[in-house]
Parts: sequence; C-alpha cells; structure tokens
Amino acid sequence: DGLDVRAKAVGKLYFGTATDNSELTNTAYVAQLGNTSDFGQITPGNSMKWDSIEPSRNSFSYTNGDAIASLAKGNGQLLRCHNLVWYNQLPSWVSSGGFDNATLISIMTNHITNEVTHYKGQCYAWDVVNEALNDDGTYRTDVFYNTIGPAYIPIAFAAAAAADPSAKLYYNDYNIEYSGAKSTAAQNIVKMIKAYGARIDGVGLQSHFIVGSTPSTATQTSNMNAFVALDVDVAITELDIRTTTPATTSTLAQQGVDYATTTNACKAVSRCVGVTIWDYTDKYSWVPSTFSGQGAALPWDDNLVVKPAYWSILSAWGSG
Ligand code: G3I
Repeated sequence: DGLDVRAKAVGKLYFGTATDNSELTNTAYVAQLGNTSDFGQITPGNSMKWDSIEPSRNSFSYTNGDAIASLAKGNGQLLRCHNLVWYNQLPSWVSSGGFDNATLISIMTNHITNEVTHYKGQCYAWDVVNEALNDDGTYRTDVFYNTIGPAYIPIAFAAAAAADPSAKLYYNDYNIEYSGAKSTAAQNIVKMIKAYGARIDGVGLQSHFIVGSTPSTATQTSNMNAFVALDVDVAITELDIRTTTPATTSTLAQQGVDYATTTNACKAVSRCVGVTIWDYTDKYSWVPSTFSGQGAALPWDDNLVVKPAYWSILSAWGSG
C-alpha cells in the first residue's frame, strides 16, 4: 500500500499531489500520477488561476482546468481547486487597477461566481484567497486590498459559498506553519470572515520548507491547533522540502526526517484532513527556477524513482 492508503488508514481524507497540464504528455509521469495507492487527490498547479481562466475581462477559458478536473474524476481522486483570488498570475487588466471599489468588487465576484459555478460539484475544496499577507502579518497591498480594503476577503468567501455550497472554502498561505505574526494574522482572517457572516471551512498551510530547518512536529501541531480552535479544518497544501543541489546521501536522509515531521503533525491533528505535495517529482518542481542552486525538494527524483522521503512518509503514516 502507498501514501494515500496509509493516510486514509489513520483517518485522513487523502494524500495528494499538484500537477500541471504540460506534464500530462509524459506517460510515465501520468501513470504514477494515477496511482491511487499513493495519490487520492490532485491540485492543478496553474490552470485554475485567474490568468488561465479569465485572461481578458469576462472571457473565460476552462480547457486546461477541465483537463485536470477530468483526470481526477477518471482516476477517482479528490480535486483541490486552486485558486480564485491572488495577487500573482493575475492578468494585467485586473492588476493594473484603475477600478473603483464597486467595480473591482463586481469584477472579483463575477470571476469567482463564474469559475466556482463551472466547477460546481467537482472541487472537494477551493483555495478562495491565496497569500493575502506579508510575512510580518500586515496585509499585502495588492490591487484587491488597495481598492476594496480587507473586506475583499469575506466578500470573496461569500461569493464562493453562494456558487458551490458543498465545496470546502480555504484561506491558503505560506509561513503560517508555525506561531508568529503571520500565523496570528491568518487566524484573524478566519475570525474576520466569520464576523462578516461568511463561511470559511479551512486553512491551507502551504509548507514550502528547507531541509534541516523545518518546524518541529510539536510546533506544527500546536500551530494547527490554533486554527482548529477557530472551528476550521487545516490541510498541508503545497508541501516540498528543498535543498542545495545536487543532493547528497545525508541531505536526502535529513529530507526524509523532515517529511516525516510534517506527516506526523498532520497525523496528530484530527482536523488536518490531508497532505498535498507540490508535484511529486523533482523533474517538475517550481523550486529550481525560483531558487537558484536549490531543488531536489520532492519524494520522487528527476527519473521518477522514489527517494528516502517516500519511505519516510509511508512509515510516518503507520504500518497500515
Ligand atoms: O505559461 C507560460 C508559458 O506560456 C511561457 O512560455 C513560460 C515561459 O516562462 O511561462 C509559462 O508560465 C509559467 C507558469 O508557471 C506555467 O508553467 C510561469 O513563467 C511560472 O512563473 C509559473 O510558475 C508557477 C508559480 O506558482 C507562479 O507563481 C509554478 O508553476 C507553480 O507551481 C507555482 O505555484 C505556487 C502556488 O500557486 C501558490 N503558492 C506558491 C507556489 C510555488 O510558487
């Protein structure tokens, strides 16, 4: 049995991976992606983002997103849909601004309503708002915040809830996997959404980590519990653990320990619903193109061969 089977055996909903359309021409890659012993869930890495879906105003393009959704359906995998409102991969017709408050609210809610309605019934969860915070816990001053103020967040959640009452609605961010100003600010976002009378079901902890310096299991567990105390689920949504390349035997061993650390944290928190890695093979990781000289962040190597991290996650879930 594999990663998803073991995760389910301890009460989780899934173990999953991100993927992307350009990767689906690689038949060996697609075969492992569809191995439902390891992956019970997939997330589109790019093709449900605003620049893919609505590249020009009120012109919606669902081909690539649909390809991932139908792949998940065909494999019997849950789909985490990613994402609706984000400052990045936002087409310039939106990001360049110039809209007044009411117009941008209408643009944002139109985008959300159209996309969530298109995928209604297909998304286990939606990342409704992604990365709204700076690392110091202040709001990122993107076009949504600058034009609408913090109310854009509950407005976005209310629009998503109206379009698909059964999708779980998440706030998703990085560097909120341990206590501190940013995690506290994310907790305040949960409270704010609820105070506006809107629905939020979960918080996604992206978990883009570095080998040898991931937060301890106790740190991650107590941080997750701070969110759970607000009556939301949590999920590890984009796990990867990068290192200097080429990786060595010892960094790969430490990486295994680090993957187990996060797996154990999710295992320990009953409302941690599952773990998603941000693609499964180093071949298709976002890391090397963003952090020069770093990579090797995933449990499968460039040749789709499992690394020590694979066995480490498997045994962290338990003997099955
Ligand atoms: O689609 C264009 C293509 O037309 C063009 O020829 C090519 C040339 O560079 O670029 C292609 O776009 C790239 C896109 O991925 C699709 O492959 C962008 O350059 C590239 O920047 C983009 O990177 C994505 C990144 O988000 C952008 O911020 C990564 O694949 C994706 O894995 C990454 O995912 C994010 C999550 O959404 C949010 N959390 C962080 C995570 C990692 O950055």
